[in-house]
Amino acid sequence: MTTDYRDLYGAHVNEVRRRWEAALETAGLDAAVVHSGTPMYGFLDDYEYAFRPNPHFLWWLPLTHHADSVLLIRPNRSPLLFYYQPDDYWYLPPSDPEPWWADHFEIEVMREPDAWIEAVRSRLPEISDGRIAAIGDAPSLEGVFGPEAINPQGLVDRIHVERTRKTAYEVACIQQSARLAASAHVAAEAAFRAGASEYGIHLRYLEDCRHTDTQLPYNNIVALNEHGAVLHYQQRDIEPPAESRSFLIDAGAAVNFYASDITRTYARETGEFADLIEAMDTVQRDLVGGVRAGVDYRELFLDSHRAIAGVLRDAGVIRVAPEDALESGLSRVFYPHGLGHFLGLQVHDVAGLIDNDGAPIPRPDGHPALRLTRVLETGNVLTVEPGLYFIDTLLAKWRAEGDASMVDWNRVDALRPYGGIRIEDNVLVLDDACDDLTRRAFAEL
Ligand code: GLY
Ligand code: MN
Ligand code: MN
Repeated sequence: MTTDYRDLYGAHVNEVRRRWEAALETAGLDAAVVHSGTPMYGFLDDYEYAFRPNPHFLWWLPLTHHADSVLLIRPNRSPLLFYYQPDDYWYLPPSDPEPWWADHFEIEVMREPDAWIEAVRSRLPEISDGRIAAIGDAPSLEGVFGPEAINPQGLVDRIHVERTRKTAYEVACIQQSARLAASAHVAAEAAFRAGASEYGIHLRYLEDCRHTDTQLPYNNIVALNEHGAVLHYQQRDIEPPAESRSFLIDAGAAVNFYASDITRTYARETGEFADLIEAMDTVQRDLVGGVRAGVDYRELFLDSHRAIAGVLRDAGVIRVAPEDALESGLSRVFYPHGLGHFLGLQVHDVAGLIDNDGAPIPRPDGHPALRLTRVLETGNVLTVEPGLYFIDTLLAKWRAEGDASMVDWNRVDALRPYGGIRIEDNVLVLDDACDDLTRRAFAEL
């Protein structure tokens, strides 16, 4: 049984409203304007970049392709939406508001993109600029508000922390997004087994989850063979390779802009690379098993280094104990990214590196890529994505500058043609465990 996110939306809006009103009070503010964003054009061009709305706007409203709409938030008043719906025949304008979300707002339809400015002023005649915040990156905000009113850090940090505590509606959207992605991952694996190219696999993925490229939460990583060692590989060869040995796919989906972010790795044949994938799968499951409220994610991250170093030692790739691999920096040669990050309206969701008061929480020394340093709370949604790669440039650097005797280079050469392994799930933190939304989605297919 799954709950339709529409049934949870009213409670979500009420909760977002409660949290915003508390944040405004703490910041000593009387109102906030949240702008959805304005399309950006290429330099000297009349084509737009793909539009990505202001996530603070999306937290309130499931309006994913709605540029130049504006929300006015005032304590103890219904939120007021200035809904931009131009009379246009070049582009398709947004459709009329749908009751499932619109019933929770006061709405005024605007035909001009800047019509909100006078409309807001007329609503706030008695409020001075110093008591309003304007949230967003629309150029028109700068013409209306002073710099101190636009995205004030204290308020933004407070809202960012609130966004780490997902409502039932948000969890339902992410779960639905995980289902779409899981189904498309299965289709992509079948395309790999059938010998498709990276490009062909990508098309199969899009077809299965019924997304266009720009609807994906991030550019799919579809990597065959050595390409699996390029952490953010984006090329997608049109032709299949002569021999398709291994496949790493990092691909998600989006529901009301809530992302899933899932990675799987496959070997064509049984053998040592397939064994390595299985060992990493065990590591990943163990790490997921360690996710619960109260855990310092930095500790879990350091544990992931020890576990991956253990896999490398058992496979004969390195010759030192896991703790020595971590201390010397050798584990980072094979695993140079973080263990995971918050997930939500942004794939790398906000507030991973600050405490509840907005103060930075440092990363462990020598680990600049970690995106999450907080102590986990019930209601957080995050990724757990340990990886192990054979990256030429990092290996060459270690061989030249590190202790080369710590590595069995013949083993490295034997595994290099397979690129790398990453296994990534999205999990919801509970009081004393976590709910692995990704594995559940695969199991439910
Ligand atoms: N797909 C980007 C990431 O896993 O962080
Ligand atoms: Mn990913
Ligand atoms: Mn990720």
